Amino acid sequence: MRQAGRYLPEYQEVRRKAGGFLEMCRDPELAAEVTLQPVRRFGVDAAIIFSDILLPLQAMGMPLVFEEGRGPVLPGPLRDERRISKLKVAEPSVDLGYVGEALRLVRARLDPQVALLGFCGAPFTLACYAIEGGTSRTQVHVRRMMYHQPELFAVLMDKLADVVISHLRFQAESGADALVVFDTWAGQLARDDWRRFAAPALQRVFDETAGLRPRLLFTLDGGHVLDEQVALGPEGLAVDWRVDLPACLDRHGGRVAVQGNLDPAVLLAPPEEVARRTAALLAAVGGRPGHVLALGHGVMKETDPEAVAAFVETAREGAGASSAQPPGRRTTGARHDG
Ligand code: CP3
Repeated sequence: MRQAGRYLPEYQEVRRKAGGFLEMCRDPELAAEVTLQPVRRFGVDAAIIFSDILLPLQAMGMPLVFEEGRGPVLPGPLRDERRISKLKVAEPSVDLGYVGEALRLVRARLDPQVALLGFCGAPFTLACYAIEGGTSRTQVHVRRMMYHQPELFAVLMDKLADVVISHLRFQAESGADALVVFDTWAGQLARDDWRRFAAPALQRVFDETAGLRPRLLFTLDGGHVLDEQVALGPEGLAVDWRVDLPACLDRHGGRVAVQGNLDPAVLLAPPEEVARRTAALLAAVGGRPGHVLALGHGVMKETDPEAVAAFVETAREGAGASSAQPPGRRTTGARHDG
């Protein structure tokens, strides 16, 4: 999950100097620096490369801007065949070369014990941004295209899958130890629609990156499609705080690692309460194998860094206390040994 960002004063400082978020992403030195900031400050067990799921859309020819307080805006949303056919199938090693360079810089500077994660948006989530032109809770334009022009929607999903697959491969070649596929918005779909509209392209992604690196799949509010997600073949499932974690481990732990799932909003509580909630989560998991402790979504910008520190410290104590964990092995972050 997102662990760098505006809640960290050292991030704010780099962002100010760079002039903006996209400028930071596109500068490998700055991207490497902000990737390492949470590792330095908190001693987490994994770093996630500082980038964004929307950069491949930009590389495919879509204008992209981040407006202060408004989040991402794509001023030329894809709503017809003409625009979709003009979408370029980007070549990540050329069009997203700065991501590879940032990965190489981070890997060289990171303790070999700390995992480095690459990531991508899943085709459905990218389609949501591309069709809506930004973040949308109701996804009206996506639904219209799905239901009125399913063939056109499938063409778009396939083009997105092509770029997702090559971008994951490129990140693995550039030093990523594991890969996260963020399907943030697919949880909005009812199960049948998920199967029909989100799963086919996602299945291609998992089929065509099999054996490359451990791959984690995250869906916000995706508790109703956990069985289906496991069937796609990821090595790990990242679940949000709505999911019953012990039950999920009991059901799926033999096939996948399960990452999660403290509610990031809990980090708005005082550090003692964060510690109490984190310990309670670990106690509920009870040392079940295959658990990767993490938040259920990214750190909110309003979070006090002290709360993140309390989470990480409690995790470390919990790991030391748990007999299921060999000495010296920690449970935060997302390292997965297969
Ligand atoms: O810890 C890290 O360094 C991870 C880097 C990372 C970012 N985005 C940086 C970022 C990751 C893994 C992402 C993934 C991402 N981006 C997702 C999937 C995961 C999720 O959170 O569901 C999505 C949906 C996006 C799209 C996106 N990017 C949105 C909706 C926003 C606005 C969010 C906000 O809080 O304003 C972004 C911007 C963004 N991406 C920021 C960061 C640090 C904030 C940028 C800033 O203003 O400085």
